[in-house]
Amino acid sequence: MSEGRAVGVPLLQVEDLTVEFVTEHGWLPVVDGVSFEIGRQETIGLIGESGCGKSVTAMAILGLIGGPSGRVARGRVLLDGQDLLVLEEPELREVRGRRIAMIFQEPMTSIDPAFTIGKQIIEVLRRHLPLSRAQAKQRAIDLLDRVGIPDPHRRFDDYPHQLSGGMRQRVLIAMALSCEPDLLIADEPTTALDVTVQAQVLELLAGLQEELGMAVLLVTHDLAVVAETCDRTIVMYAGEVVESADVTALFPDPRHPYTAAMLANLPGLHPGEPLRPIPGIVPPRHALPAGCWYSPRCEHRTDACGATHPQLVDLGTRRVRCLRADELDLPGVGR
Ligand SMILES: Nc1ncnc2c1ncn2[C@@H]1O[C@H](COP(=O)(O)OP(=O)(O)OP(=O)(O)O)[C@@H](O)[C@H]1O
Ligand SMILES: [Mg+2]
Repeated sequence: MSEGRAVGVPLLQVEDLTVEFVTEHGWLPVVDGVSFEIGRQETIGLIGESGCGKSVTAMAILGLIGGPSGRVARGRVLLDGQDLLVLEEPELREVRGRRIAMIFQEPMTSIDPAFTIGKQIIEVLRRHLPLSRAQAKQRAIDLLDRVGIPDPHRRFDDYPHQLSGGMRQRVLIAMALSCEPDLLIADEPTTALDVTVQAQVLELLAGLQEELGMAVLLVTHDLAVVAETCDRTIVMYAGEVVESADVTALFPDPRHPYTAAMLANLPGLHPGEPLRPIPGIVPPRHALPAGCWYSPRCEHRTDACGATHPQLVDLGTRRVRCLRADELDLPGVGR
């Protein structure tokens, strides 16, 4: 595909993305009209409670939704202006890895236990780049070194089970970054790791991002990580975007009560105060409430909120889906 870098075209544009799965209630959307953009070298945090559609959004961007039980019902995913959703599988494979790479949450599911890590990195490299075996091996060792694997020459011949969880996640990062993608999608890249290793891996990612000049879409439950590492945040609720803004605007001044409720639940940012989990649960798609889908859980709801489903309104510097966005003064963090 073309590597057009038309001036003014964002790296990635997701437009009206709608993904449906078969359920006992028929086809139901789990990602519903989602639109956002990612600029070159930008870091976006995608947040929202479990089941809100974050991973499905990430999978859809990579063209990984399909089969008898899943489908992209609407929408476009434009990379440098070219719609990925209309590509055939061979073209998509070229995009995956080469232009967009992904790190999944659980390292063991993405590394093949039957092959050495060196062999697996070489395979990724040679799939996308015209390298000889020797060149690929050298590059693989360089990569292992770059992601902080000690003694990379020796580790090259290790099998995945010979590495710790943190080391496996580093190998996965090495594989994802081996072809220097323009966009890295990292879905909970550190959740399976213990806290100190999490910090190391995030630091590594941030350093490599700067070095390689790539954009990152970071899916995470950890708002503290978003505050520290992201430029912009997209908040999803029940398959929809409910708010998006620059981190510097969103954290001190959330406009959607759901965003504010998530921030109130952020450990460490309110020392001495108890955490306030959001009462209730995300409604299942076959039983969405009337009006605003968050309204049954919202402490700011009015009668109108139970009657009208709000549109995502573009306020210039942010987008927000709340009838009361203008009138509420919600508590944030960092002010
Ligand atoms: N292959 C599938 N078939 C049917 N339903 C699915 C499939 N994959 C995901 N879902 C459903 O889609 C919804 C969104 O799932 P998704 O994995 O995107 O959530 P998430 O926001 O990533 O949550 P978490 O934070 O727990 O990872 C969930 O209700 C999930 O059960
Ligand atoms: Mg997920």
